[in-house]
Amino acid sequence: MEIAELRAAELKFLSARLVRDLCRCLECRHPVNGQRLRSILDLPLNLAIEDVFESQTESLFSLSDGHQVLLSRDEVAALKVGASFEDPRSEMVKFTWEGARLDLTPVPWNDYLASPRVRLRSLREVAHLGFMLLTGVSRDSGSVLEVIDTFGFVRETNYGKIFDVQVEERPNNLAFTNMRIAPHTDNPYRNPVPSVQLLHCLATDVEGGNSGLVDGFKAAQRLREISPKAFGILSQENFHFTYSNANTYLEYVGPVIRLNTNDEIVEVRWNDRSMQSPSSSEYVDQVFDALSAFATILNGKSMVKEFRLNPGDCVVFDNTRMLHSRTSFESSGTRHLQGAYADLDSLLSSIAVLERGELE
Ligand SMILES: [Fe+2]
Ligand SMILES: [Zn+2]
Repeated sequence: MEIAELRAAELKFLSARLVRDLCRCLECRHPVNGQRLRSILDLPLNLAIEDVFESQTESLFSLSDGHQVLLSRDEVAALKVGASFEDPRSEMVKFTWEGARLDLTPVPWNDYLASPRVRLRSLREVAHLGFMLLTGVSRDSGSVLEVIDTFGFVRETNYGKIFDVQVEERPNNLAFTNMRIAPHTDNPYRNPVPSVQLLHCLATDVEGGNSGLVDGFKAAQRLREISPKAFGILSQENFHFTYSNANTYLEYVGPVIRLNTNDEIVEVRWNDRSMQSPSSSEYVDQVFDALSAFATILNGKSMVKEFRLNPGDCVVFDNTRMLHSRTSFESSGTRHLQGAYADLDSLLSSIAVLERGELE
C-alpha cells in the first residue's frame, strides 16, 4: 500500500458531517461574504466519507451524498488536533496586573492618530492590559467622541452620548461631588453593560481628585486562590443591580464574576452604589462574607494604579474588567471630565483589521 493511500484510509475516520460543514463551494458558502448558505438541517444524518484523494497541498473528500469537499492540508491537520476556540474575553488571553507593579506608558494623541502601528499597540493594551492612556487630546468639549471614532462607535445611554463629571449643586450621583469614589465598574445595572468607557479631562486645578484603576480580573483570580468558596458564591449566585430615576428603571440580575463554559473569568461587575441587598436565604451571611472578601482585595493598596488625569488626557478602559476610582478633592476650583461609552466588540475588530494591515 502506498503512503498516500494509508493517509487516505486514516482520513476516512474524520467526521463526514464536519468535513461537509467546512465546504466552501458555491453551493455551501456565499463567494463574497463567506456566509453559510445551508442550514444545519441540510446535513445528512448518515453521511460517510467514501474516498479521499490527496495532492501536496489539498485533500478532496467524496461524501456519500455525492458532494465533494476540497480542504487544504492545513485545514485537515487542524481537524485532527481537537483544537477549541480561544475566548477573546477570557482571563486566559489577558495580562493581569497589580497596580503597584505596573508602569504607565501614556501615548501621545498625535502619534496615535498618525501611526497605525501605534494605534494597534495602544488598542492591544486595552484588550490585554485593560486600558490605554492618551495624552494631548484636544481640550474642547466633545473630543472624547473623536477618540471613539478611531476604534468604534459610541454607546448612547440615558446619560446621553457624553456625560459631564463635575461638581454639581444637587448631584444625582456621587460622581458629581468632590467625595472619594471607591473602585467600581460603570453601569452594572445594564445588560449588556457598556464594555468600554472613556474619561477625558478638560480641566483640573484642584488638589486631589486623582484617578485610579484596578484590574478586576486580577482581584477575582486572587479571590479564587484565597477563598474558592467566596469565588464560587460571586460567580454562581445571582446579584441585583438597579438604577432608577423619574424617567428610567434599569436592572441586571446575574453574577458579580461571570465565567465562560471553561470556568474562565470573562466579566466583573462591582459598584457599591447600585448593588442591591442580596436575596434573603439561609446562606445570606456567607454571601456577605464573599462580598466583603472581594471588596477587601479590590480596595487593597497594592491593587490600584493611581495617576493624575491632566487636561487633554483621556483614559480608555475595558469596563467589563477594570474598576475605576477617584480620590477626594477640595471643592473650590475646577475639575471637569467628560465620559462616554463604547463597545469592546468594535475595539477588538479594529485590532483585527489593523493586524491585517500589518501583514500586508
Ligand atoms: Fe464611574
Ligand atoms: Zn459544498
